[in-house]
Amino acid sequence: MKPVIIRSLSELRKLTAQWVRRDESIGLVPTMGALHAGHLSLAKAARDACDRVIVTIFVNPKQFNNPEDLENYPRTEHDDAEKLAPLEVDAIYVPDGDQMYPKEFATNVSVAGLTDVLCGAHRPGHFDGVATIVAKLFLQSGANQAFFGEKDFQQLQVVRRMARDLDIPISVVGCPTIREDDGLAMSSRNLNLSDDARKTAATLQQVMQDVAAGLRTGKAMGKLRPTALARLKEAGFGDIDYLDLRAMDDLGELDTPERPARLFAAAYLDDVRLIDNIAI
Ligand code: PAF
Repeated sequence: MKPVIIRSLSELRKLTAQWVRRDESIGLVPTMGALHAGHLSLAKAARDACDRVIVTIFVNPKQFNNPEDLENYPRTEHDDAEKLAPLEVDAIYVPDGDQMYPKEFATNVSVAGLTDVLCGAHRPGHFDGVATIVAKLFLQSGANQAFFGEKDFQQLQVVRRMARDLDIPISVVGCPTIREDDGLAMSSRNLNLSDDARKTAATLQQVMQDVAAGLRTGKAMGKLRPTALARLKEAGFGDIDYLDLRAMDDLGELDTPERPARLFAAAYLDDVRLIDNIAI
């Protein structure tokens, strides 16, 4: 059955009210569209865990710090709906800008601490935009569970903290990163890579795996970083925002994985900002 496409909050509330009356659980998959296998894996996880599934598609202007990036963000609603059709998703919620940010919208949801580092340090205001829109989607849908990819691990931790701090009764579920055959983490932004850059892009994951192997044999991040950065530059990467080992819970910087940690990287290739992270 094809999912119903919903564009207004009143339609969404009407639909979810019926489900709640029947005591059916609701799973939410927030996206900005340009769906790939990573998003589809989130929809499948929601399908397995919940009675009803809503996928949201909204390219959120508040989380872009660069107007060109917002303009270039792929918009593929028709294809997205086709991809979701076989997955037994119940509804696709595609609100427009006025629905999400009506005139005189004045509220900002800001999560301190976790957002000071990694992407937060390089993209001012980005996580405020994410936390604000995700809080709205949680409250609009009344979902019981929400599904996010671990590829955006910092986002996952920010959203978890936001829901907990605001007592939004939803459980935030992290799902494994889905990768291309060469190891590149799937991302809607990969569509903006040239053919040559696409071939180079997997070097990010290869270099990260080598750093991870070094960390696992007891070498320190400070010792491994210079070689890793040089390899990325040599492969053709431009600015490298970070290559950091950080604690999983509070994202504090580590030199060795003395507590559960992940290796995080963000680097530009062909003006496309690629991010990735792996558990150590
Ligand atoms: O990960 C994304 O696609 C976005 O940041 C999200 C969670 C849909 C909020 O706009």
